[in-house]
Formats: sequence, C-alpha cells, structure tokens
Amino acid sequence: MIKLGVNIDHIATIRQARREDFPSVLQAALLCEKAGADGITAHLREDRRHIQDKDIYDLRKSIKTKLNLEMAASDEIAGIALDVKPDFVCLVPEKRLELTTEGGLDIKGQSKKLEKVIGKLKSAGIKVSVFIDPDISQVNASAEIGADCIELHTGKYAALYKEGGKNSKPFQDEFGNIINASNAALSKGLILNAGHGLDYDNIGEICRIARLNEFNIGFSIIARAVFAGIENAVKEMKEILLKYSN
Ligand code: PXP
Repeated sequence: MIKLGVNIDHIATIRQARREDFPSVLQAALLCEKAGADGITAHLREDRRHIQDKDIYDLRKSIKTKLNLEMAASDEIAGIALDVKPDFVCLVPEKRLELTTEGGLDIKGQSKKLEKVIGKLKSAGIKVSVFIDPDISQVNASAEIGADCIELHTGKYAALYKEGGKNSKPFQDEFGNIINASNAALSKGLILNAGHGLDYDNIGEICRIARLNEFNIGFSIIARAVFAGIENAVKEMKEILLKYSN
C-alpha cells in the first residue's frame, strides 16, 4: 500500500495567524499518527511563516513514525537539519512571495550546490529526497547528484484534473509525464514519492502508478479536518489509498 505522509504546516499557519501557542503542531502530528499516517512532513521555511524551529525539535522528540523535513538547500536550514536529524529531508525550491511551493527544483541548473548539501545530509545518516517536476532529465540529474528519493511535483496534475477532468488531453499528457518520470526514477533505483495539490478526488488516478512509495499531502487533509476532525480526515485518505492499492 502506498504510504501517507501528512504535511502539518497549515496547523502552524493557523497558530501563527494569531502568534498563539495553539493549535499544537505536535498534537496534530500525534493524532495523524494515531489515525494511520505513515509519516509526518513539515516545511521549515527560511521566512518561518508557519513551522518554527521548536516545532521540528518537538516533532523529532515525540513522533513514532518518520519525520520528513522539507527545506530549501540553504546553509542555515541545513545546519538545523544536521542537528535535528530527521529521517528524511526533501529539498524544495523556495521563494518569498509564493503562496506554496511553485514548481520543482532545477537540479540541472544548480547541481554543484545541491550535491554538496546532499552529501552533508547523507553523511549524517539522513535520506535525501528532491522535489522535482515530472521531467526525465531532472530525474536523471537527481540520481547523478546522489539523491536517495525523488518527490514528483503533482501541482500541475492536480490543477489539470480540476480544470478538465481525468479524460482531458492536457491531464492525460501530464499523467504521461508522471508515468515516464516514475519509470526513469525506478530504473535508476530511486525511491519514488509524489505530492502537492493531491486531494480526496484526484488521488485515485495517480495510485495507478506502479511502485509509488509515498504521497505527501497537506492542504486537503487539514482543510477536511476543519469539518471532520483531523483523525477522520487522515482515516478517509488512508481508506482511499487502501481501496486503490487492491
Ligand atoms: N510536497 C512538497 C515538497 C511540498 O512543498 C508540499 C507543500 O508544502 C506538499 C508536498 C504538500 O502539498 P499540499 O499542501 O498541496 O498537499
């Protein structure tokens, strides 16, 4: 069954909106685990707009599943990662003005810098993933610089699904890119993850990709939690994954 990593950034978004000490990011993570999440993901952004340093240390201390730290390849955040030692780091591009992570990393354009950061993280025993668009040349470049995993950016997949449905040509073209990039990743021995914009409607189609290891899903689950509660929101997603895994 494809694993579910729950991204709890938006619990911190709510807390930071009032600079309060609630809702608790750690409590949310523990409830996600209780409901069946296979891992917890948090993005420590350079501007600290949601997750704060203390959240990462608290998560590391108390969660029982895997901690996946999303981060830009900056020296400052890499220093924190080396101290916290999450199970996984996922390197992402970061822009101050974006609402969320837009587009994947350009591995080919900054391979020297990324290779150095990946080397440091890996020598501390951290598995490293890179967040890339479904593009075979980026997959190959990821393998060359020593990444253990790739996370395919499904933002376009999600947007096209919403726009024209799963039978539309633009969606099918993008799905084809995801299939090709996935096959390339598997042939290079990379662990294959996917995420961004995935929700309770569009998740079914991408479950058809063979040997996907994990989805990282945040916004749709936290949004559902407002009405259903966070445990139910996670359980509902797990049920869908179970259904499509059979
Ligand atoms: N994966 C990565 C690398 C991301 O940057 C994000 C957004 O923080 C996600 C997955 C989750 O995206 P969403 O919140 O749209 O589910």
